Amino acid sequence: MARRKMLYDGKAKTIFEGPEPGTIIQYFKDDASADNGAKHAVLPGKGVLNNRISAYIMTRLESMGIPTHFLKSINMREQLVREVEVVPLEVVIRNAAAGSLAKRLNIKEGTILPRPIVEFYLKNKELGNPLVTEDHIFAFGWADPLELEEMMAMSWRINDYLSGLFAGINLRLVDFKLEFGRLYGDMGELYLLLADEISPDNCRLWDLDTNEKMDKDRFREDLGGLVEAYQQVAERLGLIPKGGIIEGGNINEQIAAGLDEIENELSRQRRLRGINRNAPNKGPRKI
Ligand SMILES: Nc1ncnc2c1ncn2[C@@H]1O[C@H](COP(=O)(O)OP(=O)(O)OP(=O)(O)O)[C@@H](O)[C@H]1O
Ligand SMILES: [Mg+2]
Repeated sequence: MARRKMLYDGKAKTIFEGPEPGTIIQYFKDDASADNGAKHAVLPGKGVLNNRISAYIMTRLESMGIPTHFLKSINMREQLVREVEVVPLEVVIRNAAAGSLAKRLNIKEGTILPRPIVEFYLKNKELGNPLVTEDHIFAFGWADPLELEEMMAMSWRINDYLSGLFAGINLRLVDFKLEFGRLYGDMGELYLLLADEISPDNCRLWDLDTNEKMDKDRFREDLGGLVEAYQQVAERLGLIPKGGIIEGGNINEQIAAGLDEIENELSRQRRLRGINRNAPNKGPRKI
C-alpha cells in the first residue's frame, strides 16, 4: 500500500491525508495523556474503543440533525472525516461540577449545576489551553458572533441528546469537550461542523448507581482500569459483544474488524446548513 502522508501527530490521534481532497483519516492511538502532555501512557485497546464509540456517537448526532465531520469507518482504528479549518476553541459543556470547575470555584465534585454551563478554552498548548470569554473570542477573531451562536446552539442540543443517550445506559454525562470546524462551500458560504472525537477521553461519564468513573479520569487520577471502563461504555452502547474485545491488553482482532460495518450501514445523505452566505471564499476545502 502506498505510504500515506501524515499531516499531524497529536496526543491521541494521528491525522493522515485522505483518499480525496477535503478528507482526512483519523487514526486512533492507544496513547493517553493528561496535564497538557506531562503525564503519558500507552493503554492497549483504547484507540480501538474510542474509534468505535466516536464513530457511533457522531453517526447518532448526524441522524438528529447535527452536522459532523464523520464520513465513514475504515477499520478498527481509523475513520474517514471531512477536513475542516478547526476553530481554535474547545467548547466544554458541564452538567455537574468536576475537574477544573470544581477546583477553581471550590464546588464539591459531582454537584449538579443549576443549569448546564458552557465554557470556552483557547486551543493553545503553549499557554495550557486557558479559559477565555466571548469578548476575548470576538476581539481576537477566534470566532465571530454568528459562529459562536451556532456552536453554542449545537452544543446545547448535543448535551441534551447525549445526556439522554448515556442516561439510557445508566451513565451520567457530567461534562464533555467539543471541537468545531469550518467548511466553505462553492458560493463562499460557511458551514460549521462538529469535528474531532466524542469518546470517554473527552467526556466525563459516571455510573448512575455507583458514581464509578468510566472515563479518562481513571488515568488522570491513577484509578487504573481505563480500558475496562471504556469497554464497558462500548458494551453498554451495544457496540461490542458482551465480554469485550480486549483481554489482558490483547485485542480480539476478528471481532474488532467486523464492527465498523455497523456505522457504515448508516452512511447517509448529509444536509449541511450554511450560516453565513457572505463569508469570504477562503479556507481549506470546498464541499
Ligand atoms: N475534521 C478535522 N479536520 C482537521 N483537523 C481535525 C479534524 N478533527 C480533528 N482535528 C484536529 O486533529 C487533531 C487530533 O489529534 P489529537 O486529538 O490527538 O490532538 P491533540 O494532541 O489533542 O492536539 P490539539 O491540542 O491540537 O487538539 C486535533 O488538533 C484536532 O483539532
Ligand atoms: Mg485532542
